[in-house]
Amino acid sequence: MIKLNKKSKKLLLLQRNELLTQKQNLLRKKLGRLLFTNIFVNFFQNKNLEQITEDLFSKEIETFKNFLPKSAHNIMDIGCGLGIININLNKIYNNKPNFFLLDKNRIDKKIKYGFSSKYESYNDLNETKNLLRDNNIKDSCIHIYDVDKKIQITNNIDLVISLKSMGYHYPFEIYLELLKLCCTRDTKFIFDVSTDNYNENLFKNYFESIKIIYEEKSIQSLKRLYCENLRI
Ligand SMILES: C[S@@+](CC[C@H](N)C(=O)[O-])C[C@H]1O[C@@H](n2cnc3c(N)ncnc32)[C@H](O)[C@@H]1O
Repeated sequence: MIKLNKKSKKLLLLQRNELLTQKQNLLRKKLGRLLFTNIFVNFFQNKNLEQITEDLFSKEIETFKNFLPKSAHNIMDIGCGLGIININLNKIYNNKPNFFLLDKNRIDKKIKYGFSSKYESYNDLNETKNLLRDNNIKDSCIHIYDVDKKIQITNNIDLVISLKSMGYHYPFEIYLELLKLCCTRDTKFIFDVSTDNYNENLFKNYFESIKIIYEEKSIQSLKRLYCENLRI
């Protein structure tokens, strides 16, 4: 079972509102997200949060497991949050990959969700590192990057993943230059785009092959893309 400490539970609830029931989500709307999360974590803690989290990310994997490359030495997760999906990927690839995890390293006071070029941040990269370490990813395989600082990655990335982050909350283009530097023609990409902001013709300028592999309808609907052959 996945191991979460109190701080990671709080961050996770900010990053993934699917973990709350409908009633809890309503209460959250009334109280505001940060106040609700603080109260929830301290007093009404959901004893099953570990199980619910494990189920959620197992479901996520199901949506794209048929598109994963056979082998992956270097995996990049953009907007990784706590990086939980990488625990699943680590198991699939037999504890071998290096993980390059990118996110901001702060929690903004006013959290607004949606799509914007100045998207809010709610993560703590130390927690990401601790969580992955506690869940059997080797320390030497965890490479964390604060995106507000200059990022240099010299490894060739085999798989780029971004769930509910790049292309969904903020424009994909923010990372295009970095991707061109550390990806090859063989790199595979799995990431979500916000349905309302997705323009397939635009993405055809970036990739030779684009497939929609999953769709989710919600307040902010998404399309999950599988892309190959980044035009470098
Ligand atoms: C909805 S959460 C998803 C987290 C994780 N990918 C998951 O599947 O649970 C969105 C994440 O994007 C991060 N984020 C916001 N702006 C970002 C940016 N410009 N670059 C990278 N990450 C960003 C947030 O801090 C947050 O951790």
